[in-house]
Amino acid sequence: MAGKLSLEKSETLYEEALDLIPGAILGIRRPYNFVPGEYPIFFESAQGGRVTDVDGNEYIDMLCAYGPIIIGHREEEIDRVVIDQMTNKGFCFSLTQPMQNELARKMCALIPSAEMCLFVKTGSDATTTAVRIARGYTGRMKVARCGYHGWHDWCVEVKGGIPKKLYEDVHEFHYNELDELEDLMKQYGDDMAAVIVTPVGHPLAEKVQDPKPGFLEGVKALAEKYGAVLVFDEIRSGFRFSLGGAQKVYGVTPDLSVFGKAMANGYPISAVVGKKEVMSVAADRVFISSTFFPNSLEQVAALKTIEILERDRVLEKVREKGEAFCQRVEAIVAESGVAAEFSGAPLLPFITFPKEKDSRYKTLRAEFYTQLIRQGVFLQPYHHGYIAYRHTDEDLDFAAGAIQEALHGLKGLA
Ligand SMILES: Cc1ncc(COP(=O)(O)O)c(C=O)c1O
Repeated sequence: MAGKLSLEKSETLYEEALDLIPGAILGIRRPYNFVPGEYPIFFESAQGGRVTDVDGNEYIDMLCAYGPIIIGHREEEIDRVVIDQMTNKGFCFSLTQPMQNELARKMCALIPSAEMCLFVKTGSDATTTAVRIARGYTGRMKVARCGYHGWHDWCVEVKGGIPKKLYEDVHEFHYNELDELEDLMKQYGDDMAAVIVTPVGHPLAEKVQDPKPGFLEGVKALAEKYGAVLVFDEIRSGFRFSLGGAQKVYGVTPDLSVFGKAMANGYPISAVVGKKEVMSVAADRVFISSTFFPNSLEQVAALKTIEILERDRVLEKVREKGEAFCQRVEAIVAESGVAAEFSGAPLLPFITFPKEKDSRYKTLRAEFYTQLIRQGVFLQPYHHGYIAYRHTDEDLDFAAGAIQEALHGLKGLA
């Protein structure tokens, strides 16, 4: 079994940060989301499919910054257009720069639901904008939601600091449970502005779920029946499942959809796209504006990222890598004899430990992910991983071998 990593610098920086920043680190990057004491807390640099922490430990980065890294870290061709824009033109102006139109045209050409497009910065910006557009379009208030849609008031999971009236019109249903949505629509359908759903199910710390046959079609039919705007939250699946998103793979076209994360290989940009009729309310009835929304560095980065994705057939190759990796890991998990489950093939690989009454599954999970990080594979115990184009066959072989060894190490505990 691999020995404990040296993490002194990470831990010193963390101690320092505790005095400077509430909780030292924001949100999902806090140590308790990993295995405290075993995972690094600060990264120093990254290249391709690998990342190095402040203590000099190198890892195969299979969390990919929680999704944005689709090609690889420090992708020169993309960084070059950003630097060029910065050096030769500038990027933060009182008016918009023209590449906005080019990027919007590209999005409309690629994404089945896209007739119009607007750009914001984060996934949360985009889901909130989509909900506002849906409310503006329908003149209704209620929202049916399914999945994580970000940190804004209407949908954040932790309700501290948020008046109840800001989320009391938002009703949750579970992924793949069409009956639950049907019940919500029977009860509130006449006041339902939007149904927002991730096309793939990825609840935190639970197995990744593909849509059951008919689920997405059923969601669309219910939204249509009650006159609600159907929104696909493609923040994770966009520019990863296909150039047209998961909607293209599954053949179900929503009214609106939101994209972010992978669309610019790490640069902060997101988009709301959709039917002209619905999107048009953002021309007058609904206000969407922010100082940084039109900044162009991330727009040129998105254009270059999409160009590379198309030109080099990146997403097909990521899928092939993911298929080979996931087939292998699935077999390793099945043969291990450990109570572990594998899901998310081929693009969102995740090893989970089914919940039991006692807390043994938590011990197995902590020990498994401890053994992985010690061997140099960066995955998250509560969140699925990702495959990047720059992961080499050797990287993925190494990761699969590390998973096998980590599971083997659990046998004494199981
Ligand atoms: C499906 C989905 N929607 C929305 C968001 C929010 O995006 P952001 O963190 O960029 O605000 C996320 C972030 O993980 C996400 O996975």
